[in-house]
Amino acid sequence: MPYRVEVTEEQIAQAVALLRAGKLVAFPTETVYGLGADASNASAIRALFTAKQRPADHPLILHLADTAALKHWTTAVPREAWQLAEVFWPGPLTLVLPRAEHVASELSGGQSTIALRVPSHPIALRLLNAFNGAIAAPSANRFGRLSPTTAAHVHEELGDAVEMILDGGPCAIGIESTIVAFRGAQAVILRPGAVTAEQIEDTLHKELAAPIRSSPRVSGTLASHYAQRSPLTVLNEDDMESFLRGESAKRPVAVLSQRGRPRDTRAALWQVAPQSPAEYARHLYGLLRRMDHAGCQLIVVESVPELPQWAAIQDRLMRAAGGIEPADAATGT
Ligand code: TXA
Ligand code: MG
Repeated sequence: MPYRVEVTEEQIAQAVALLRAGKLVAFPTETVYGLGADASNASAIRALFTAKQRPADHPLILHLADTAALKHWTTAVPREAWQLAEVFWPGPLTLVLPRAEHVASELSGGQSTIALRVPSHPIALRLLNAFNGAIAAPSANRFGRLSPTTAAHVHEELGDAVEMILDGGPCAIGIESTIVAFRGAQAVILRPGAVTAEQIEDTLHKELAAPIRSSPRVSGTLASHYAQRSPLTVLNEDDMESFLRGESAKRPVAVLSQRGRPRDTRAALWQVAPQSPAEYARHLYGLLRRMDHAGCQLIVVESVPELPQWAAIQDRLMRAAGGIEPADAATGT
């Protein structure tokens, strides 16, 4: 299990005071680190967009201390949403629901819906309970970059733009939450994550709706979201071998492979990928960051199995490669 860094009650109190003063505080969640601001303070929300360099029409996720808080922020919650909240909260699931009238339009990027989740990380829950309100928190990275999964990544991304970073050690899940919206009573996945389509269907006893083409803007569905700086390509085992033979002679290449480093490869950096989808997700962004820093001109990643339990990882790899067509990107497929 990942190590946990102890956060003291004094640090939680200091974080709460900063949030109340309209400042930004980064905190760990079980998925990735979030950059938190008081959801009821419009100027704090604007500061959040500035720090992330995020366009104003990209809505934020509200983090709540418990499921009961859902009522305050939403209207007309379908029974299916309550069922999912009951089973998966606290946890890596975000629900997109019609927003209550009082919700500031800055939070929802001008949309009629609002995204909410109750995270399960103990430090996130301590902070939320002590704050006694909703914390708006996108991933604590600059717009379009890899989400941070350690406090050091947050510092690397945001530097002095964040007032305080609560260090909870490496995130256990490592990729962002599953986002679910509703079309009437039917659930639809806008972003795959640790909570799988199968788990959602099993909980609701019905099939998910196909993603909607004109679905609300989800920044994580832009073609090249969750990206490192170096170009990245995903290849299957056979293609990778021949590609590397030709390519790595020409320019320094970093490789993330399912297998050990072959003797004859000229790859500048060879990382062996974790075997299980859970381990792979946990380490993915850290590995991509390390490969990005290695001074290589290209990152080559071996494709992962075409199986449901790998769907969220496949999605992030495709986006890191910028290989999703804009038309598909809008649907979150
Ligand atoms: O795991 C997570 O969800 C992390 C942690 C910090 O909780 N947060 C996260 O936030 O990934 P962010 O802002 O990086 O991504 C939130 C995604 C964005 O793609 C955003 O467009 C989408 O949620 N979103 C927010 N509100 C929405 C809405 N009303 N309709 C559709 N998508 C929405
Ligand atoms: Mg993000």
